[in-house]
Amino acid sequence: MPNKKNYYITTPIYYPSDNLHIGHAYTTVAADCMARFKRMQGYDVYYLTGTDEHGQKIERAAREKGMEPIAYVDGIVANIRELWQALLISNTDFIRTTEKRQEEVVQKIFARVYEQGDIFLSQYEGWYCSPCETFFTERQLQDGKCPDCGRDVELLQEESYFFNMSKYAPRLLEHIASHPDFIQPESRRNEVVNFIKSGLEDLCVSRTTFKWGIPVPFNSDHVVYVWFDALINYLTGVGYLQDDEKFKKYWPADVHLMAKDIIRFHAIIWPIMLMALDLPLPKKVMAHGWIMLEGGKMSKSKGNVIDPRLLVEKYGVDAVRYYLIKELSFGQDGTYSEEILANRINADLANDLGNLISRTIAMIIKYFGGVIPETRTSVALDDEIQTAAGQAYSEATAKLEKLDFSAYLHAEARLVSRANKYIDETAPWLLAKDDSQTGRLATVMYNLLECIRIALILTHPTMPTLMERANQQLGLWDNIEAVKWEEAGIWGLTQAGTRVNKGESLFPRIDLKTLGEEEKVEEKKEPEAPATEPPLEIQNAVVEDEYISIEDFARLDLRVAEVIACEKMKKADKLLILRLKVGDEERTVVSGIAQHYTPEEMVGKKVVLLANLKPTKLRGVMSQGMILAASDEQYVDVLTVTKDIAAGNRVK
Ligand code: MSP
Repeated sequence: MPNKKNYYITTPIYYPSDNLHIGHAYTTVAADCMARFKRMQGYDVYYLTGTDEHGQKIERAAREKGMEPIAYVDGIVANIRELWQALLISNTDFIRTTEKRQEEVVQKIFARVYEQGDIFLSQYEGWYCSPCETFFTERQLQDGKCPDCGRDVELLQEESYFFNMSKYAPRLLEHIASHPDFIQPESRRNEVVNFIKSGLEDLCVSRTTFKWGIPVPFNSDHVVYVWFDALINYLTGVGYLQDDEKFKKYWPADVHLMAKDIIRFHAIIWPIMLMALDLPLPKKVMAHGWIMLEGGKMSKSKGNVIDPRLLVEKYGVDAVRYYLIKELSFGQDGTYSEEILANRINADLANDLGNLISRTIAMIIKYFGGVIPETRTSVALDDEIQTAAGQAYSEATAKLEKLDFSAYLHAEARLVSRANKYIDETAPWLLAKDDSQTGRLATVMYNLLECIRIALILTHPTMPTLMERANQQLGLWDNIEAVKWEEAGIWGLTQAGTRVNKGESLFPRIDLKTLGEEEKVEEKKEPEAPATEPPLEIQNAVVEDEYISIEDFARLDLRVAEVIACEKMKKADKLLILRLKVGDEERTVVSGIAQHYTPEEMVGKKVVLLANLKPTKLRGVMSQGMILAASDEQYVDVLTVTKDIAAGNRVK
């Protein structure tokens, strides 16, 4: 269709190291909600998801099972596809990194970036565990040992190809500054900007210690690093170097959606790869929070995952999708529990929306035999309900445009409660007793039907089967497929003569008593799954469980402080007593650095003080804070500020 607007949305491509859990389902359902919303708005949508299948861990796991890697992943990928069918995911394409189309594109890109000099051969140095045949960075080691098997590791070098990332850092910073929506939410943008500013190292983009990957085209001793391979799926999926017309139509992507664990790969490495290829950057990289379990993060290796298929079987696809979309507030983490899910179904779906529909149908049948008469009498209250519907539409639209999924459903839910309140306010059962009020009663019924029509359109991207099921009772639409989002913004589209019929309950209530431990969709306790290639190759990267939020960090009141006096603590070899100037204030701090600094050396230094640490008495002296220092077995090095920054300024 000419002039049709295009919309390209992606999820991460998931590791098929094990079956996926409810966390992965969250991203895919959220992206699906967006894709359906955009289709209803008239966009030509390309929704891409898939699997990230290469890497050493998968190769090893397959070998342990006596299988070829491809045979090993084939089975899991089949399950993943079935899961997406069960969740009614409407993806346009499903890409596997083991497909020929991906191999071709990855090799062409690698060769091109090499030829232009942005990829070069050098030495990779890392801690190598020979039984595991894996390199680890210093941070990944656990107590200096292999984090996988606990054995000793040795510092080794291997020849590798490196990607020159720092060259593009200034351009990337400029892009982020001039495109405030590029990285969302804002807290993630700040994290990414700080990371880039702290200096980007060259990225090691090839491996020689295993074979399960795409060979470097001009040197088959090497395979391409899994993340370099995986990110390219977003180009391959829309025909880069293979189908120019398709590529032109959909690239750049409108949104790459993911959780916060992999934002740096998408907001640093990926844009830099695109810059090296002279391609436009995606319009938005959006990181949502995590679904946690009460005991902490859900992870395949912890074996505490929830299988979404079992939830769908038990509660139905609409309810599970509704729960997921409503649960995570924009950018925040949320906690999964089956009780919350069941309560959500009972409160929002059975009580509010379900009841609104069934009561309205029952009243139209009781008072008018199923068809609302055309005589109408409106009063001021009706304007209120109409305004509430208009607001729900515009808020839901604005929130969805921002990918603020939960807030979008809150906007819809407000309309449903307003409509339920309208029933109480208008008391149709009293109007029905008075023949002179027939016009008024008809108006109330019509307005309720309008609210239901609008609410059903708004929930359609989230609950794809509800509209059809409800329509069997409501008879509002001839063709559900043709319903447009904007129809929810127009009051009065319900046709005169619409006939409603009684039907089955759309959302049966969940009996909370059936949620005893026995009946719960169990957290699967499984043997440790093979972890896949760890996403740790941005050197210095924080491993996911170590993340704190920016709010956590902001609780630390770090200040520049000038040492104005210093003396040794009597009868204590290790302690110095420092007098610090912090803005207009002076403080005393006791610090265990006496074996590394003399008092004279300390005076005049501008140090970093943790100013809101609870004061404590050390050897009878009240210490009001702590100064920061780096240390190893040999040295202690007090952190200082080298530029002329006045004492009292914040360190952040
Ligand atoms: N293969 C890489 C992605 C490459 S994209 C070019 C990868 N795969 S993964 O299987 O580990 O999936 C990570 C993604 O799964 C997260 O970014 C998020 O979208 C989703 N989630 C996994 N666990 C999750 C939660 N507990 N909560 C929310 N989302 C979660 O990383």
